[in-house]
Amino acid sequence: MPKAVVVSAFGGTEVLSFKDMPSKKPGAGELRVRAIAIGVNFIDVYHRTGLYPQPLPFVLGKEMAGVVEEVGEGVTGFRKGDRVASATVSGSYAEEITAPESIFVKVPDGISDEMAAAMMLKGMTARYLLRKTFAVGPGHTILFHAASGGVGSIATQWAHHLGATVIGTVGSEEKAKLARQNGVDHTILYRSEDVAKRVAEITKGAKCDVVYDSVGNTTYIGSLDSLKPLGMFVLFGQSSGPVKGFDPSMLAARGSLFMTRPTLFNYTATRETLDETANDLFGVVASGKVKIEIGARFALKDVADAHRALEGRETTGSTILIP
Ligand SMILES: NC(=O)c1ccc[n+]([C@@H]2O[C@H](COP(=O)([O-])OP(=O)(O)OC[C@H]3O[C@@H](n4cnc5c(N)ncnc54)[C@H](OP(=O)(O)O)[C@@H]3O)[C@@H](O)[C@H]2O)c1
Repeated sequence: MPKAVVVSAFGGTEVLSFKDMPSKKPGAGELRVRAIAIGVNFIDVYHRTGLYPQPLPFVLGKEMAGVVEEVGEGVTGFRKGDRVASATVSGSYAEEITAPESIFVKVPDGISDEMAAAMMLKGMTARYLLRKTFAVGPGHTILFHAASGGVGSIATQWAHHLGATVIGTVGSEEKAKLARQNGVDHTILYRSEDVAKRVAEITKGAKCDVVYDSVGNTTYIGSLDSLKPLGMFVLFGQSSGPVKGFDPSMLAARGSLFMTRPTLFNYTATRETLDETANDLFGVVASGKVKIEIGARFALKDVADAHRALEGRETTGSTILIP
Protein backbone atom coordinates (compact mmCIF):
# COMPACT_ATOMS: atom_id res chain seq x y z
CA MET A 1 0.00 0.00 0.00
CA PRO A 2 1.37 3.50 -0.80
CA LYS A 3 2.56 5.58 2.12
CA ALA A 4 2.04 9.27 2.93
CA VAL A 5 3.05 11.85 5.53
CA VAL A 6 0.02 12.63 7.67
CA VAL A 7 -0.55 15.51 10.10
CA SER A 8 -3.06 14.53 12.81
CA ALA A 9 -2.52 17.53 15.12
CA PHE A 10 -0.86 20.92 14.57
CA GLY A 11 2.60 21.30 16.04
CA GLY A 12 6.32 20.62 15.68
CA THR A 13 7.93 17.91 13.57
CA GLU A 14 6.72 15.29 16.07
CA VAL A 15 3.22 15.53 14.53
CA LEU A 16 4.46 14.12 11.21
CA SER A 17 3.66 10.42 10.77
CA PHE A 18 4.44 8.10 7.87
CA LYS A 19 1.33 6.00 7.24
CA ASP A 20 -0.23 3.57 4.77
CA MET A 21 -2.76 5.31 2.51
CA PRO A 22 -5.03 3.21 0.30
CA SER A 23 -4.53 3.79 -3.42
CA LYS A 24 -7.43 5.89 -4.81
CA LYS A 25 -8.86 5.13 -8.24
CA PRO A 26 -9.04 8.33 -10.32
CA GLY A 27 -12.56 9.73 -10.71
CA ALA A 28 -13.80 11.75 -13.66
CA GLY A 29 -11.17 14.29 -14.73
CA GLU A 30 -8.55 12.92 -12.31
CA LEU A 31 -5.08 11.39 -12.64
CA ARG A 32 -3.38 8.82 -10.43
CA VAL A 33 0.29 9.75 -10.31
CA ARG A 34 3.26 7.83 -8.87
CA ALA A 35 5.56 10.33 -7.17
CA ILE A 36 9.24 10.36 -8.16
CA ALA A 37 10.28 13.47 -6.23
CA ILE A 38 8.48 15.85 -3.87
CA GLY A 39 9.28 19.51 -3.14
CA VAL A 40 9.54 20.86 0.41
CA ASN A 41 8.25 24.42 0.89
CA PHE A 42 7.83 26.83 3.74
CA ILE A 43 4.06 26.71 3.27
CA ASP A 44 4.26 23.06 4.40
CA VAL A 45 5.61 24.34 7.72
CA TYR A 46 2.72 26.82 8.02
CA HIS A 47 0.27 23.95 7.37
CA ARG A 48 2.01 21.63 9.87
CA THR A 49 2.03 24.26 12.66
CA GLY A 50 -1.53 25.41 11.94
CA LEU A 51 -0.52 28.97 11.03
CA TYR A 52 -2.58 28.24 7.91
CA PRO A 53 -5.16 25.90 9.51
CA GLN A 54 -6.96 23.16 7.60
CA PRO A 55 -9.19 20.27 8.71
CA LEU A 56 -7.27 17.46 10.49
CA PRO A 57 -6.03 14.88 9.67
CA PHE A 58 -4.49 15.70 6.29
CA VAL A 59 -1.61 14.67 4.04
CA LEU A 60 0.99 17.46 3.94
CA GLY A 61 2.67 19.04 0.90
CA LYS A 62 1.91 20.94 -2.31
CA GLU A 63 4.67 20.23 -4.84
CA MET A 64 5.69 17.05 -6.70
CA ALA A 65 6.71 15.40 -9.94
CA GLY A 66 5.94 11.90 -11.12
CA VAL A 67 4.45 9.59 -13.72
CA VAL A 68 0.78 9.15 -14.64
CA GLU A 69 -0.28 5.58 -13.79
CA GLU A 70 -4.00 5.83 -14.56
CA VAL A 71 -6.40 8.42 -15.98
CA GLY A 72 -10.06 8.88 -15.01
CA GLU A 73 -13.04 9.24 -17.31
CA GLY A 74 -13.05 12.32 -19.52
CA VAL A 75 -9.38 13.20 -19.04
CA THR A 76 -8.23 14.89 -22.23
CA GLY A 77 -4.81 16.42 -21.54
CA PHE A 78 -2.83 13.46 -20.18
CA ARG A 79 -2.10 9.79 -20.83
CA LYS A 80 -0.67 6.90 -18.83
CA GLY A 81 3.13 7.27 -18.79
CA ASP A 82 3.21 11.09 -19.06
CA ARG A 83 5.74 12.84 -16.82
CA VAL A 84 3.83 15.47 -14.85
CA ALA A 85 4.34 17.99 -12.03
CA SER A 86 2.24 20.25 -9.84
CA ALA A 87 2.62 23.00 -7.25
CA THR A 88 -0.91 22.83 -5.87
CA VAL A 89 -1.51 19.25 -4.76
CA SER A 90 -3.57 18.78 -1.60
CA GLY A 91 -1.13 16.32 -0.03
CA SER A 92 2.00 15.86 -2.15
CA TYR A 93 4.07 14.13 0.59
CA ALA A 94 2.92 10.75 -0.67
CA GLU A 95 4.14 7.86 -2.78
CA GLU A 96 1.01 8.17 -4.90
CA ILE A 97 -1.44 11.02 -5.56
CA THR A 98 -4.90 11.08 -7.14
CA ALA A 99 -5.92 14.62 -8.11
CA PRO A 100 -7.68 16.63 -10.85
CA GLU A 101 -5.84 16.96 -14.16
CA SER A 102 -6.32 20.75 -13.93
CA ILE A 103 -3.51 21.08 -11.37
CA PHE A 104 -0.86 19.25 -13.45
CA VAL A 105 1.45 20.27 -16.27
CA LYS A 106 3.57 18.00 -18.46
CA VAL A 107 7.28 18.11 -17.71
CA PRO A 108 9.31 18.72 -20.88
CA ASP A 109 12.27 16.56 -21.93
CA GLY A 110 15.48 17.99 -20.53
CA ILE A 111 13.91 18.77 -17.13
CA SER A 112 14.41 15.86 -14.74
CA ASP A 113 11.75 14.74 -12.26
CA GLU A 114 13.91 15.95 -9.36
CA MET A 115 14.36 19.37 -10.99
CA ALA A 116 10.63 19.62 -11.65
CA ALA A 117 9.82 18.78 -8.02
CA ALA A 118 12.38 21.37 -6.90
CA MET A 119 11.08 24.19 -9.05
CA MET A 120 7.35 24.13 -9.73
CA LEU A 121 6.13 25.99 -6.64
CA LYS A 122 9.25 28.07 -6.05
CA GLY A 123 9.91 28.84 -9.72
CA MET A 124 6.33 29.70 -10.66
CA THR A 125 6.30 31.98 -7.61
CA ALA A 126 9.49 33.68 -8.80
CA ARG A 127 7.92 34.05 -12.23
CA TYR A 128 4.72 35.78 -11.13
CA LEU A 129 6.57 37.98 -8.63
CA LEU A 130 9.02 39.26 -11.26
CA ARG A 131 6.83 39.26 -14.36
CA LYS A 132 3.29 39.94 -13.10
CA THR A 133 3.18 41.48 -9.62
CA PHE A 134 5.83 43.97 -10.71
CA ALA A 135 7.37 43.76 -14.20
CA VAL A 136 11.08 43.82 -13.37
CA GLY A 137 13.44 45.01 -16.10
CA PRO A 138 16.64 46.93 -16.87
CA GLY A 139 16.97 50.09 -14.79
CA HIS A 140 15.15 48.64 -11.79
CA THR A 141 16.81 48.09 -8.44
CA ILE A 142 15.18 45.32 -6.43
CA LEU A 143 15.65 44.04 -2.89
CA PHE A 144 14.99 40.31 -2.43
CA HIS A 145 15.01 38.87 1.09
CA ALA A 146 16.26 35.33 1.85
CA ALA A 147 18.09 35.48 -1.47
CA SER A 148 19.72 32.04 -1.14
CA GLY A 149 16.55 30.19 -0.19
CA GLY A 150 14.30 28.16 -2.48
CA VAL A 151 12.31 30.98 -4.06
CA GLY A 152 15.20 33.42 -3.57
CA SER A 153 17.80 31.39 -5.51
CA ILE A 154 15.52 31.13 -8.53
CA ALA A 155 14.14 34.69 -8.36
CA THR A 156 17.52 36.39 -8.02
CA GLN A 157 18.96 34.54 -11.04
CA TRP A 158 15.85 35.43 -13.02
CA ALA A 159 15.89 39.11 -11.95
CA HIS A 160 19.57 39.31 -12.94
CA HIS A 161 18.66 37.82 -16.32
CA LEU A 162 15.88 40.44 -16.69
CA GLY A 163 18.52 43.14 -16.30
CA ALA A 164 17.74 44.48 -12.81
CA THR A 165 20.27 45.47 -10.17
CA VAL A 166 19.66 42.88 -7.46
CA ILE A 167 20.25 43.43 -3.75
CA GLY A 168 19.76 40.30 -1.64
CA THR A 169 19.60 39.69 2.08
CA VAL A 170 21.10 36.48 3.50
CA GLY A 171 21.64 34.89 6.90
CA SER A 172 25.34 34.00 6.60
CA GLU A 173 28.58 34.61 4.68
CA GLU A 174 28.25 31.21 2.94
CA LYS A 175 24.77 32.14 1.76
CA ALA A 176 26.10 35.53 0.60
CA LYS A 177 28.69 33.75 -1.55
CA LEU A 178 26.01 31.58 -3.12
CA ALA A 179 23.80 34.62 -3.74
CA ARG A 180 26.62 36.40 -5.56
CA GLN A 181 27.16 33.30 -7.73
CA ASN A 182 23.44 33.55 -8.59
CA GLY A 183 23.82 37.10 -9.89
CA VAL A 184 23.02 39.10 -6.77
CA ASP A 185 24.96 42.35 -7.19
CA HIS A 186 24.99 43.36 -3.50
CA THR A 187 24.44 41.15 -0.45
CA ILE A 188 23.31 42.31 3.00
CA LEU A 189 23.82 40.17 6.10
CA TYR A 190 20.47 41.05 7.62
CA ARG A 191 21.11 39.30 10.93
CA SER A 192 23.80 41.88 11.75
CA GLU A 193 23.42 44.79 9.29
CA ASP A 194 20.77 47.53 9.07
CA VAL A 195 19.03 46.72 5.78
CA ALA A 196 17.61 50.15 4.95
CA LYS A 197 20.91 51.86 5.80
CA ARG A 198 22.86 49.49 3.57
CA VAL A 199 20.32 49.87 0.74
CA ALA A 200 20.67 53.66 0.96
CA GLU A 201 24.48 53.32 0.76
CA ILE A 202 24.39 50.85 -2.15
CA THR A 203 21.89 52.93 -4.16
CA LYS A 204 23.46 56.27 -3.18
CA GLY A 205 20.16 57.33 -1.62
CA ALA A 206 17.96 56.37 -4.59
CA LYS A 207 16.55 53.20 -2.87
CA CYS A 208 14.58 50.38 -4.54
CA ASP A 209 11.72 50.23 -7.03
CA VAL A 210 10.39 47.01 -5.49
CA VAL A 211 11.06 44.95 -2.38
CA TYR A 212 10.16 41.24 -2.21
CA ASP A 213 9.76 40.23 1.42
CA SER A 214 8.91 36.64 2.45
CA VAL A 215 10.49 36.90 5.90
CA GLY A 216 7.77 39.15 7.31
CA ASN A 217 7.82 40.26 10.90
CA THR A 218 11.55 40.79 11.38
CA THR A 219 12.12 42.50 8.02
CA TYR A 220 9.05 44.45 6.91
CA ILE A 221 9.95 47.83 8.41
CA GLY A 222 13.40 47.69 6.81
CA SER A 223 11.69 46.72 3.57
CA LEU A 224 9.37 49.75 3.66
CA ASP A 225 12.35 52.00 4.51
CA SER A 226 14.26 50.64 1.48
CA LEU A 227 11.66 51.79 -1.07
CA LYS A 228 11.70 54.97 -3.13
CA PRO A 229 8.45 57.01 -3.25
CA LEU A 230 5.72 55.17 -5.21
CA GLY A 231 7.73 51.94 -4.81
CA MET A 232 6.11 48.52 -4.52
CA PHE A 233 6.23 46.45 -1.33
CA VAL A 234 5.52 42.78 -2.11
CA LEU A 235 4.95 40.84 1.11
CA PHE A 236 4.69 37.22 -0.01
CA GLY A 237 5.53 35.19 3.08
CA GLN A 238 6.34 35.15 6.76
CA SER A 239 9.17 32.75 7.58
CA SER A 240 9.95 34.83 10.72
CA GLY A 241 6.28 35.08 11.70
CA PRO A 242 3.24 37.12 10.65
CA VAL A 243 3.75 40.89 10.39
CA LYS A 244 2.71 42.69 13.58
CA GLY A 245 1.92 46.37 13.92
CA PHE A 246 1.44 47.24 10.27
CA ASP A 247 -0.52 50.44 9.72
CA PRO A 248 -1.47 51.64 6.20
CA SER A 249 -0.27 55.14 7.10
CA MET A 250 3.28 53.67 6.99
CA LEU A 251 2.85 53.58 3.20
CA ALA A 252 1.90 57.28 3.08
CA ALA A 253 4.75 58.33 5.37
CA ARG A 254 7.34 56.73 3.07
CA GLY A 255 6.04 58.27 -0.18
CA SER A 256 2.70 56.80 -1.28
CA LEU A 257 4.06 53.25 -1.48
CA PHE A 258 2.08 50.43 -3.05
CA MET A 259 1.69 47.14 -1.23
CA THR A 260 0.41 43.69 -2.18
CA ARG A 261 0.18 40.34 -0.38
CA PRO A 262 0.04 37.89 -3.31
CA THR A 263 -0.24 34.10 -3.49
CA LEU A 264 0.76 31.76 -6.32
CA PHE A 265 -2.71 30.23 -6.51
CA ASN A 266 -4.31 33.42 -7.86
CA TYR A 267 -1.67 33.72 -10.58
CA THR A 268 -2.14 30.12 -11.81
CA ALA A 269 -5.87 29.66 -11.21
CA THR A 270 -6.82 28.88 -14.83
CA ARG A 271 -5.42 26.36 -17.32
CA GLU A 272 -4.21 29.31 -19.40
CA THR A 273 -2.35 31.13 -16.60
CA LEU A 274 -0.93 27.85 -15.22
CA ASP A 275 0.45 26.86 -18.66
CA GLU A 276 1.77 30.37 -19.34
CA THR A 277 3.55 30.49 -15.95
CA ALA A 278 4.95 26.95 -16.15
CA ASN A 279 6.09 27.34 -19.78
CA ASP A 280 7.91 30.59 -19.02
CA LEU A 281 9.66 28.84 -16.12
CA PHE A 282 10.55 25.75 -18.18
CA GLY A 283 11.88 28.06 -20.90
CA VAL A 284 14.16 30.09 -18.66
CA VAL A 285 15.51 26.90 -17.03
CA ALA A 286 16.03 25.19 -20.41
CA SER A 287 17.94 28.27 -21.64
CA GLY A 288 20.39 27.90 -18.73
CA LYS A 289 19.67 31.45 -17.48
CA VAL A 290 18.17 30.03 -14.28
CA LYS A 291 19.68 26.95 -12.67
CA ILE A 292 17.74 24.87 -10.17
CA GLU A 293 19.89 24.16 -7.15
CA ILE A 294 18.84 21.11 -5.15
CA GLY A 295 20.55 21.83 -1.84
CA ALA A 296 19.35 18.73 0.00
CA ARG A 297 17.57 15.42 -0.59
CA PHE A 298 15.82 13.41 2.13
CA ALA A 299 13.93 10.11 2.02
CA LEU A 300 10.19 10.78 2.32
CA LYS A 301 10.11 8.92 5.66
CA ASP A 302 12.76 11.36 6.98
CA VAL A 303 10.56 14.38 6.32
CA ALA A 304 10.96 15.61 9.92
CA ASP A 305 14.69 16.13 9.30
CA ALA A 306 13.87 18.12 6.15
CA HIS A 307 11.48 20.39 8.08
CA ARG A 308 13.99 20.90 10.89
CA ALA A 309 16.63 21.95 8.35
CA LEU A 310 14.27 24.37 6.56
CA GLU A 311 13.00 25.99 9.74
CA GLY A 312 16.53 26.05 11.19
CA ARG A 313 17.72 28.21 8.23
CA GLU A 314 20.20 25.46 7.29
CA THR A 315 19.05 24.95 3.70
CA THR A 316 19.97 26.71 0.47
CA GLY A 317 18.13 26.38 -2.83
CA SER A 318 15.45 23.69 -2.98
CA THR A 319 14.96 20.70 -0.69
CA ILE A 320 13.32 17.56 -2.07
CA LEU A 321 11.96 14.31 -0.67
CA ILE A 322 12.42 10.98 -2.45
CA PRO A 323 9.67 8.38 -1.95
N1 LIG B 1 2.95 33.92 -1.57
C1 LIG B 1 3.40 32.97 -2.38
O1 LIG B 1 2.88 32.78 -3.48
C2 LIG B 1 4.56 32.14 -1.95
C3 LIG B 1 4.95 31.04 -2.72
C4 LIG B 1 6.10 30.33 -2.34
C5 LIG B 1 6.79 30.69 -1.20
N2 LIG B 1 6.34 31.75 -0.46
C6 LIG B 1 7.09 32.18 0.74
O2 LIG B 1 8.42 32.43 0.35
C7 LIG B 1 9.28 32.16 1.44
C8 LIG B 1 10.40 31.26 0.99
O3 LIG B 1 9.89 29.95 0.81
P1 LIG B 1 10.88 28.74 0.52
O4 LIG B 1 10.07 27.51 0.61
O5 LIG B 1 11.67 29.03 -0.70
O6 LIG B 1 11.84 28.79 1.82
P2 LIG B 1 13.38 29.20 1.91
O7 LIG B 1 13.57 30.57 1.36
O8 LIG B 1 14.20 28.10 1.32
O9 LIG B 1 13.60 29.19 3.47
C9 LIG B 1 13.27 30.29 4.24
C10 LIG B 1 14.47 31.20 4.47
O10 LIG B 1 14.01 32.35 5.14
C11 LIG B 1 15.05 32.89 5.90
N3 LIG B 1 14.57 33.22 7.25
C12 LIG B 1 14.63 34.45 7.81
N4 LIG B 1 14.13 34.42 9.04
C13 LIG B 1 13.77 33.16 9.31
C14 LIG B 1 13.22 32.50 10.44
N5 LIG B 1 12.94 33.17 11.57
N6 LIG B 1 12.96 31.19 10.36
C15 LIG B 1 13.23 30.50 9.24
N7 LIG B 1 13.75 31.06 8.12
C16 LIG B 1 14.03 32.38 8.15
C17 LIG B 1 16.18 31.85 5.94
O11 LIG B 1 17.23 32.30 5.07
P3 LIG B 1 18.49 33.10 5.70
O12 LIG B 1 19.23 32.13 6.58
O13 LIG B 1 19.27 33.55 4.52
O14 LIG B 1 17.91 34.22 6.49
C18 LIG B 1 15.53 30.61 5.38
O15 LIG B 1 16.46 29.78 4.71
C19 LIG B 1 8.41 31.61 2.57
O16 LIG B 1 8.06 32.66 3.43
C20 LIG B 1 7.18 31.13 1.82
O17 LIG B 1 6.04 31.08 2.61
C21 LIG B 1 5.25 32.46 -0.81
